[in-house]
Amino acid sequence: MAAISIFEALRGAGIDRADARVLLRTAVQATDAHLAAHPEQLLTAIQHERFRGWAERRRAGEPVAYIIGSREFYSLAFGVTPAVLIPRPETELLVESALGMIAPQAPVRVLDLGTGSGCVAVAIGRYRARACVTAVDISSAALEVARENATTHGVSIEFIESNWFAALRDRRFHLIVANPPYVADGDPHLGRGDLRFEPRGALVAGPIGLDAIERVVGQASRHLDPGGWLLIEHGHDQAPSARALLAAGKYREVVTHRDLAGLERVSGGRVDVTAA
Ligand SMILES: C[S@@+](CC[C@H](N)C(=O)[O-])C[C@H]1O[C@@H](n2cnc3c(N)ncnc32)[C@H](O)[C@@H]1O
Repeated sequence: MAAISIFEALRGAGIDRADARVLLRTAVQATDAHLAAHPEQLLTAIQHERFRGWAERRRAGEPVAYIIGSREFYSLAFGVTPAVLIPRPETELLVESALGMIAPQAPVRVLDLGTGSGCVAVAIGRYRARACVTAVDISSAALEVARENATTHGVSIEFIESNWFAALRDRRFHLIVANPPYVADGDPHLGRGDLRFEPRGALVAGPIGLDAIERVVGQASRHLDPGGWLLIEHGHDQAPSARALLAAGKYREVVTHRDLAGLERVSGGRVDVTAA
């Protein structure tokens, strides 16, 4: 195989340029700045072979994050495998909303439901060192990935395999956060882009996508301290339904937070002190 340069590799990859850059900088183990400054640098045979294989997988539709096994979330690098949802930028709003409710030195008990890669739990633990974080998922394969991410970032988290609250018995928390599945069963997006490769159990929640949100909102109040908060991520058009479920439950001070695009993405409420 003839040696090719960084410039030629990027030009001939046959994939989106931004994706090609991520794959190439990972294959070469260099920064974007290095790629830009040294377009004439020749790839070694191993780097070239690796990049060619990855570009081919990307052309077949596989998500970049699964190919390189990593995705950045809240300025931290998370290991990802096809067992977990690829962390999304919009979920940073859930972390930000949660951090806004936890004083820096507060020893609060936090529960992350449906932890997947562990990105939400690890980010909270990383930025609130005194918080005691518990993270739950129904998928043991996802929990394995989450455990590794917690170790990588030096965050101590209690991981529990559970169908939502089932294994938690009567435990209570100051704050519960969740990014549950919220895509409707027949949503055509499931057959497009990255979603085709992600675990269905991390995405789909019944005929209109509200099954998991309904379950979590319905059960969370029994696992919150009086005055504790539930924060839940939902689809950009599901905020009215989420607020209605919260208001019909034992929650007061129901709020919705918007993401940077102005979309309603996270709703929450405080469990009624008298009803908890
Ligand atoms: C949308 S993903 C969120 C993953 C991660 N928290 C994130 O924000 O990237 C939903 C997660 O909920 C988990 N899940 C689905 N049904 C569940 C259930 N009944 N009990 C616990 N976890 C569940 C899935 O395995 C998946 O990891």
